[in-house]
Amino acid sequence: MKLILLLLSILLVQSLVFGQDYLIQTFAGGLGDSLPAKESSLNWPFDVSTGPIKGEYFISDTYNHRVRKILANGTMTTIAGTGFAGYNGDGILSSQAHLYYPYDVAVNDLGEVYIADTYNHRIRKILLNGTIITVAGVGSAGYSGDYSTAMQAKLNYPHGIYVKKVFSNGTIITIAGNGEGDADGYGKYNGDNMLATLSSLNLPTTVALNSLNEVFIADSQNHRIRKVSNSGIISTVAGTGVSGYSGDGIPANTTKLNTPNGITIDSNDNIIIADRNNHRIRLISNSSGIISTLAGNGTTGSRDEEVLATSAKLSRPADVTIGYDGELIITDTDNFVIRIVKLNGMISTIAGTGFERFNGDRATSLSTLINHPSSMAFKDGELIFCDRSNHRVRRISKDGSVKTIAGNGIGGYNGDGMLAIDAQLNYPHGVASDSIGNIYISDSYNHRVRIVFTNGTISTIAGNGNSGFNKDGIQATSSQLNYPFGIALNGNDELFISDRSNHRVRKVSNNGIISTIAGTGSAGYNGDVIMATEAKLYLPHGVSVDNKGNVYIADKQNHRIRKILASTGMISTIAGTGQAGFNDDNMSALESRVNSPYDVTVDESGQVIYIADTNNHKIRRIQNGNLTTIAGNGIGGYNQDGILSTQSQLYYPYDVSIDPVSGKIFIGDASNFRIRVLEKIETPVSSSLPKPIGSKSSNNPQPSNRNSSASSSIGGSIIGSIIVIIICTVV
Ligand SMILES: *[C@@H]1O[C@H](CO)[C@@H](O)[C@H](O)[C@H]1NC(C)=O
Ligand SMILES: *[C@@H]1O[C@H](CO)[C@@H](O)[C@H](O)[C@H]1NC(C)=O
Ligand SMILES: *[C@@H]1O[C@H](CO)[C@@H](O)[C@H](O)[C@H]1NC(C)=O
Ligand SMILES: *[C@@H]1O[C@H](CO)[C@@H](O)[C@H](O)[C@H]1NC(C)=O
Ligand SMILES: *[C@@H]1O[C@H](CO)[C@@H](O)[C@H](O)[C@H]1NC(C)=O
Ligand SMILES: *[C@@H]1O[C@H](CO)[C@@H](O)[C@H](O)[C@H]1NC(C)=O
Ligand SMILES: *[C@@H]1O[C@H](CO)[C@@H](O)[C@H](O)[C@H]1NC(C)=O
Ligand SMILES: *[C@@H]1O[C@H](CO)[C@@H](O)[C@H](O)[C@H]1NC(C)=O
Ligand SMILES: *[C@@H]1O[C@H](CO)[C@@H](O)[C@H](O)[C@H]1NC(C)=O
Ligand SMILES: *[C@@H]1O[C@H](CO)[C@@H](O)[C@H](O)[C@H]1NC(C)=O
Repeated sequence: MKLILLLLSILLVQSLVFGQDYLIQTFAGGLGDSLPAKESSLNWPFDVSTGPIKGEYFISDTYNHRVRKILANGTMTTIAGTGFAGYNGDGILSSQAHLYYPYDVAVNDLGEVYIADTYNHRIRKILLNGTIITVAGVGSAGYSGDYSTAMQAKLNYPHGIYVKKVFSNGTIITIAGNGEGDADGYGKYNGDNMLATLSSLNLPTTVALNSLNEVFIADSQNHRIRKVSNSGIISTVAGTGVSGYSGDGIPANTTKLNTPNGITIDSNDNIIIADRNNHRIRLISNSSGIISTLAGNGTTGSRDEEVLATSAKLSRPADVTIGYDGELIITDTDNFVIRIVKLNGMISTIAGTGFERFNGDRATSLSTLINHPSSMAFKDGELIFCDRSNHRVRRISKDGSVKTIAGNGIGGYNGDGMLAIDAQLNYPHGVASDSIGNIYISDSYNHRVRIVFTNGTISTIAGNGNSGFNKDGIQATSSQLNYPFGIALNGNDELFISDRSNHRVRKVSNNGIISTIAGTGSAGYNGDVIMATEAKLYLPHGVSVDNKGNVYIADKQNHRIRKILASTGMISTIAGTGQAGFNDDNMSALESRVNSPYDVTVDESGQVIYIADTNNHKIRRIQNGNLTTIAGNGIGGYNQDGILSTQSQLYYPYDVSIDPVSGKIFIGDASNFRIRVLEKIETPVSSSLPKPIGSKSSNNPQPSNRNSSASSSIGGSIIGSIIVIIICTVV
């Protein structure tokens, strides 16, 4: 930390600001780099490749905007990409370069890594000294530049690359595809046995060469594997052109494929394909032309380990490659893992924890994967948080170790009165800790608020388990709740529940009786400065109570922060105009827009209020009636830690909480799968850190739905003594 501060103050000379700046750090979670690969997290990995060093695997971790590498000792690392979706130039270390949905990775004999940086419309290369450069593509989408150098050519969502050593001169040419598409934006099929450059392709995804340098193309939306002969003639080697599955043991050109995506060719020229939407890895025998299945029984689903590969479930595998000892290495893409089929035919996982993003309770919070952290509570210097999509509540001790305190990890309900760690929770969203150390959990999808006593037993204190609303004035355990989200306790350990889908805030008194303190039960907004019980709310998410008993509500769908005055019971808006969005910062909170705020919290003094402005990807602060951003640059995603918090990216922050002991601000940075912490900078530093160049929102663009206007082509480019074959869609 000290070093960083020093660097900042030396390097930066302009626009010094004092005081309320924060550095942002990750406190818990992440992707699991430097852990054994099986304990780290991948996000829609599309491609896996081998390299010159035995045991190393390169993975395009597409939705993490990174290229990962499994070291020979099994450790997961990141070799390119910051996680930020965008482009920030070349000539820098690959680990500091932004990538944008990299779909493919290939490694040459020297160990230089080529990346299809798909949404940047470039082919990138990592030199042996770690520098990243562009070797093809000018960065804008299009088609141009055949017979020029690859650097001057336009590419359009380059998707597949193939690297092979031959001798030639640096010119880019099209080797297949006429670039034509239908009016509906798709390519088409115009027959075989013609010059490949005259043929239509439909979203080709990968190429591979056999021993004769014949080129094989996964013509994915034509549901065919095509071949370009040495004389440039195209033909179909597998697939009838109709999507589906029609069996094995027959000639490959008489069977159906379904969106074949990956191809690899073994030393006998057998063709192995990732038949993606058939959830199978298939083999086309070079000698007989007969197709068979090597892995996947055709049923999608969660992983099974150490079973015969042919009876295992795969989930839309995108690629397959041959391992160092002849094994098959499969990107089991929609299961978020890399799998291996050993020579004995058994399948297992070599990388990724899967969709669960759970790798157990670990000695350090930074090596513990978490899955959508939401609410937090503090007790004696320990941080308790809802690991929402892992259906667990976990505790980070002062020494940084993580321990699960409730939830066995299986979403559901299996009763009360047992040890909390054996109980099922169902997307727990809120947590609070009372004066004697009991922990309250809003068990949202079970429509209950649970309590974990200090002896570790779990019980229900509100909600009978049926969603809905019956009445108030009864024992809370007999009342219905409807997706309780945020919870809070006041100084008397009275419980406040944001009863989200009942559009109410409820209160459970010490005698166990439940009542409504805000909301009429119908969704909407009917004004302020009225009794809170007569005011409409709209999907209230977060709730907080200050030391005077005033209640704060993140009235999410009204895009407002509301406050109930303890003295009068009247409600008012303290931030938000009611319109979703972001207009400006550092002005009257009542004139500032917020966007679906999930959480509100108030500091010990009751003077400063923090908002998780979720859909603006920001944490904001109300002070003296003005609203300012204290973290998040407004672009959803992840860029970096150790920088000014206002320049960092957050990704749907669900929660903001303050540790009453240290005063530190913690953020449940849900879609970054991290808990972030803001550390006050006492030294003056500049706010003029370099901004990411070419930043683009990574707010869930859907590659599969991208404008795949027109058809596609395949080009070969000769770079140095290496031929790189690039597959693109072409407008
Ligand atoms: C794995 O290898 C890397 C690089 O050589 C090394 O830094 C790391 O400590 C090794 N990890 C283990 C668990 O051996
Ligand atoms: C890395 O290698 C390239 C090509 O040899 C060279 O241009 C570049 O300056 C090197 N970068 C560093 C940081 O050494
Ligand atoms: C490079 O090779 C291609 C294909 O053989 C040829 O058409 C082109 O003229 C060559 N370019 C240069 C600059 O030599
Ligand atoms: C399949 O391939 C074989 C061998 O090349 C060929 O004889 C046959 O006509 C092809 N069948 C179809 C339906 O294309
Ligand atoms: C693939 O099959 C062809 C035709 O049967 C044969 O000529 C060729 O040698 C085979 N390739 C390999 C690498 O075995
Ligand atoms: C695939 O395996 C699953 C789980 O073992 C099984 O339920 C399913 O019936 C199998 N499907 C086929 C087509 O064999
Ligand atoms: C745990 O504590 C609760 C609350 O005091 C009590 O009702 C329960 O019986 C205790 N359970 C065990 C196993 O001691
Ligand atoms: C907010 O505005 C005030 C008054 O114009 C100014 O002094 C302050 O520096 C601003 N704060 C930020 C964070 O821009
Ligand atoms: C609040 O914002 C207004 C401008 O909208 C500014 O004039 C005022 O100084 C700000 N107050 C504080 C305390 O920053
Ligand atoms: C896709 O591209 C086509 C052709 O350029 C255009 O007409 C269409 O509006 C585009 N669609 C979208 C969703 O951008």
